[in-house]
Amino acid sequence: MSLKGQSFPENFLWGGAVAAHQLEGGYQEGGKGLSIADVMTLGSHDSPRKITDKVEKNEYYPNHNGIDFYHSYPEDIKLFAEMGFKCFRTSIAWTRIFPNGDETEPNEEGLLFYDRLFDECLKYGIEPVVTLSHFEMPLHLVQEYGGWRNRRMIDFFMNFAEICLTRFQKKVTYWMTFNEINNQTNYEADGSIFNNSGLRPKENENREFLMYQAAHYELVASAKTVEFAHNLNPKLQVGSMIAMCPIYPLTSKPEDILFAQRAMQTRYWFSDVHSNGIYPKWLLNHFKTANFNMDISDDDLAALKKGTVDYIGFSYYMSFVVKDTGILNYNEEYDLVKNPFVEASEWGWQVDPVGLRYALNWFNDRYHMPLFIVENGLGAIDKLEENHQIHDDYRIKYLTDHLLQMKKAVLEDGVNLLGYTPWGCIDLIAASTGQMSKRYGFIYVDQNDDGTGSLKRYRKDSFNWFKDVIQTNGSNIS
Ligand code: BG6
Repeated sequence: MSLKGQSFPENFLWGGAVAAHQLEGGYQEGGKGLSIADVMTLGSHDSPRKITDKVEKNEYYPNHNGIDFYHSYPEDIKLFAEMGFKCFRTSIAWTRIFPNGDETEPNEEGLLFYDRLFDECLKYGIEPVVTLSHFEMPLHLVQEYGGWRNRRMIDFFMNFAEICLTRFQKKVTYWMTFNEINNQTNYEADGSIFNNSGLRPKENENREFLMYQAAHYELVASAKTVEFAHNLNPKLQVGSMIAMCPIYPLTSKPEDILFAQRAMQTRYWFSDVHSNGIYPKWLLNHFKTANFNMDISDDDLAALKKGTVDYIGFSYYMSFVVKDTGILNYNEEYDLVKNPFVEASEWGWQVDPVGLRYALNWFNDRYHMPLFIVENGLGAIDKLEENHQIHDDYRIKYLTDHLLQMKKAVLEDGVNLLGYTPWGCIDLIAASTGQMSKRYGFIYVDQNDDGTGSLKRYRKDSFNWFKDVIQTNGSNIS
């Protein structure tokens, strides 16, 4: 089938994605409390970020100022409107609504900020798409309760989720509960950044068990959120948010294939629970074999069944490869090998556009529900030329290659895809390293890694390219 001239379905949600802590700044404004992102220092590809117990005077914390979106959002959204965005994915900073996380009453000033932000989007016909928890829970909940190792987090999260859903139900239809909930699969990671769970493992603590327990509480909170949203307003659509990195076997050796299958099961049991409302049997068996004394109550299991998601939101940046290790137990920290068939980005992420089509089909076959690509993109170093031009042809190529595969999945394979919001549509603070120089945007923000710079915004070449994609509803992609 020739794809030239063919467009995406009507009402396809073209847009861009960001997260509150990576761009808002204003970390002490409007009554905001300290979040886990506020105590992470600047890192780089070679030196990890550090987590400090409090804000230290002699450290630099890039998320404190972000790109100052807290103040510049009207101009930034105007630029998104110029590109023709139909939607804009952002998150609500939990600490703007509940500064410590365990209050009973929300902070009205925080709610007002999001009222104004969403109204500004709607003014241009841009639909806000909202993630509730995107890597920035209140620091107090980590220090006082141990983060998601504690069952009480379910109630704290529900207070937050219920307030947001109730307040913004007329302005936001598409919601997601936990950003990249499955990225904690790598429980052995160096611990230089917090994920959604806010876990600080103690010495000799079983990290794998801790991850499963925290994830269980999050999945229960997520399911309860879905149920609450449906009862509140049947129009609301609540999705999961999964970091999709397909895991291929290195060879056709049956043991490699079996190992890759187990790796996929291990990375994606989260979406099994989100979408099917039950735990896969292999995982329950694993809990037994590993002697994990999981706190999973009958009420939890009932909640999981009642609160299955309406769609699967997912990020896609790269694919992984594994080979058999002799033990059918995937450990993401040690088991990944290089794919000889694909190139890697400057930050070592394996670029694989075909993997996106594979991922879309994989989700579609497994869950039979609408999908939403809520992150995709290339983190790269951009050069600001004279006359404030940025020639980011490498980004246009990356995105074109991925869009072509996405188009094939939709038009040839029949995948039901709601929309596409590339990551960091405006340059922002990188989550993994805290760098500004790892840029994804269509809009350049004049700021250096150390926070110096004018913060002025400039359109990159990819700005006009993406504008054209949206205007033609993708018919120019072939
Ligand atoms: C995803 C996150 O993991 O990838 C984003 O949802 C993050 O928050 C994005 O920014 C890209 O990662 P990084 O580390 O390049 O910012």
